[in-house]
Amino acid sequence: MLLIAKNHVLQTALLRAGLPVVFHSGRSHNAAPMDVADEPILKITNLCKTYSGGSLALKNVSLKIEKGEIVALLGPNGAGKTTLISSICGIVRPTSGHITVAGFDIVSDYRKTRALIGLVPQELTTDSFETVFNTVSFSRGLFGRPPDPAHIEKILISLSLWDRRNSKIITLSGGMKRRVLIAKALSHEPSILFLDEPTAGVDVSLRKDMWKIVSELRESGVTIILTTHYIEEAEEIADRVGVMNHGEIVLMENKQALMRKLGQKQLFLDLLEPLQELPENLTEFSLELAENGMRLTYTFDTRAQQTDITALLDGLKSANIGFRDLQTTQSSLEEIFVNLVKESSSRRIEEGAEQ
Ligand SMILES: Nc1ncnc2c1ncn2[C@@H]1O[C@H](COP(=O)(O)OP(=O)(O)OP(=O)(O)O)[C@@H](O)[C@H]1O
Ligand SMILES: [Mg+2]
Repeated sequence: MLLIAKNHVLQTALLRAGLPVVFHSGRSHNAAPMDVADEPILKITNLCKTYSGGSLALKNVSLKIEKGEIVALLGPNGAGKTTLISSICGIVRPTSGHITVAGFDIVSDYRKTRALIGLVPQELTTDSFETVFNTVSFSRGLFGRPPDPAHIEKILISLSLWDRRNSKIITLSGGMKRRVLIAKALSHEPSILFLDEPTAGVDVSLRKDMWKIVSELRESGVTIILTTHYIEEAEEIADRVGVMNHGEIVLMENKQALMRKLGQKQLFLDLLEPLQELPENLTEFSLELAENGMRLTYTFDTRAQQTDITALLDGLKSANIGFRDLQTTQSSLEEIFVNLVKESSSRRIEEGAEQ
């Protein structure tokens, strides 16, 4: 069923209900806004969402994303990632706060902002009896874009769906259906693309295809925000990595900075004799004494040109410090992530927050 809606309130209601709507204004919605060109592509200010059942899903979230960035949002189940994305896309109504997309308010300029956005939802929902090609073409029409079979062909080829273009959606596998969702989200050439767990339950080849598509889209200036439970995915494609927990953003950091943290490595030396204090010739090293002087810990950066381990061992020898064992550890992004989530959860418990 296709509904043609001229009235904005009606269009919004139909879209929220998941019904296909044709915007009947005849105007292009993707034209760059002149007066708001300097605005970040996405600006979220003090966003809160409490669902009607009382569950507090977003707690004062503020965030700015610049045009062309790729941001990965990580976080445990129920952290609020989907609620955040759904709020930006106008699917969930925030309790309070403010969101702009390319400078346009998502409430008062709903049609403009929605046309700038492509969304690949976490849940698989699509018309079962339509063909792949028609579904994707139709999605483009929903945003008032003129038909462009060549563009649809390009998308379907890049997602390895071209051979299945005449298949009914119902006949596709789960991973292929997810590819169709991605194709639909790209059909109207959005400026900002939300991918809510795009690679959950899909095979390695789609994951690799996805990464390739994301990097091609970035080259064409599209901003991408994705949620994922695969930390290596964030590592592979993101410029910035955000971690959410209990409705809050507990970290939002440049990936390179995180990788530098990742590069921290520790060398533990178990000494033969306890050491009261560090000898003079070793003070230049980043060393700590622990376990009643029986263990020396040396922290160094694996990415540094020089790790100075040889110099440290020479220094130990000339200070007559013997050791019986040594081991090294390295913190992974996964550890950083798990620790952050643990820290923010225990802080909540200390503060007496409700679940
Ligand atoms: N429609 C809804 N009605 C009531 N509560 C909801 C609704 N949708 C989500 N929630 C609650 O809001 C919180 C955040 O859920 P959300 O789906 O945003 O988490 P998420 O980070 O996307 O999790 P996941 O990794 O499992 O997808 C959870 O406590 C969830 O139970
Ligand atoms: Mg989710």
